[in-house]
Amino acid sequence: MQPALSVHALSKRFGDRVAFNDVSFEVGRGEVFGFLGPNGAGKTTTVRTLGTLIAPTSGSALVAGIPLIPENAVEIRRRISIMPESPGLYLRLSVIENLECFADLYEVPEPHKRIARALHAVKLDERARDLCGALSKGLRQRVALARALLNEPQVLFLDEPTSGLDPAATRDVHELITALSHSGVTIFLTTHRLEEAERLCDTVAILNTTLRMLGPPAQLRTQLFATTLAVRTRLPLPDPDRVFNGLPSVEAWRRDGMGSYSLTVSDPTIAAPAVTRALVAADADVLSIGESLHSLEDVYLELVDNDANPPLGRS
Ligand SMILES: Nc1ncnc2c1ncn2[C@@H]1O[C@H](COP(=O)(O)OP(=O)(O)OP(=O)(O)O)[C@@H](O)[C@H]1O
Ligand SMILES: [Mg+2]
Repeated sequence: MQPALSVHALSKRFGDRVAFNDVSFEVGRGEVFGFLGPNGAGKTTTVRTLGTLIAPTSGSALVAGIPLIPENAVEIRRRISIMPESPGLYLRLSVIENLECFADLYEVPEPHKRIARALHAVKLDERARDLCGALSKGLRQRVALARALLNEPQVLFLDEPTSGLDPAATRDVHELITALSHSGVTIFLTTHRLEEAERLCDTVAILNTTLRMLGPPAQLRTQLFATTLAVRTRLPLPDPDRVFNGLPSVEAWRRDGMGSYSLTVSDPTIAAPAVTRALVAADADVLSIGESLHSLEDVYLELVDNDANPPLGRS
């Protein structure tokens, strides 16, 4: 089956400023794809480019199976939907009037049925007659989400859909994302919330102008950090250099605290037994030896800090 999104060496520049560069990835149908990166990384610009709102500078893409070229913009827009960073609603119109306007604009068939379904999906049936200007930020966000559902898209781009939402509203949006993806909708989700990405996404991409990493959330952690061995001894080693240097697969070590050492290793299955033997030979009381467990946040910060040295695929 053809992927829902297939992006190849896509770049966008605004004059001298590079918004994103040489980005390639694929998203399967019905997948939730998480797009993470710091402010200014190029996430929204990527969404706008794939959503046919702006043209790429170079590279190519298939969106909902259709080549991303200006002639196909209308055809693509029929199959996708974007929930932008800011809702952009008519504040002097009611919720339902807003949705009617957009249903009209998108020429969706059976607008009343679609509107009712979208309102129900975001749990806004009760507030349908309220003016959008009188809604809270989170409720406006939900109206924007309902609007994005009107054309029953194959691919739904959500640009930080839970930013500023309370925990209950966030959970509702998460449940909706999961339900949509189960019904076969492909979700492209930009977010700053790492736990959100980890919970919802099949694949996570980390962008900082260029793609820094791409894979399932669990793989991102191991790819970066399975190579760290944490060693704790009851007392500090008198001569750690003598213990750690020259051991197979151990590349470097540093002190983390009293009797606590962090070793960079190329293969923990070789390093761990060698380190254990060396510590025993040095008469050290070993408290623990183990691969460090790091959160997705550690991975993320490591990746986006490391500007000069894009670690895509580094071992
Ligand atoms: N229309 C534009 N003209 C000029 N520069 C732009 C334009 N749109 C975006 N940029 C620049 O492109 C870069 C990427 O911006 P973008 O909005 O894609 O970042 P983002 O990852 O969505 O950030 P955030 O997390 O803050 O939403 C930024 O340096 C931004 O200033
Ligand atoms: Mg953005």
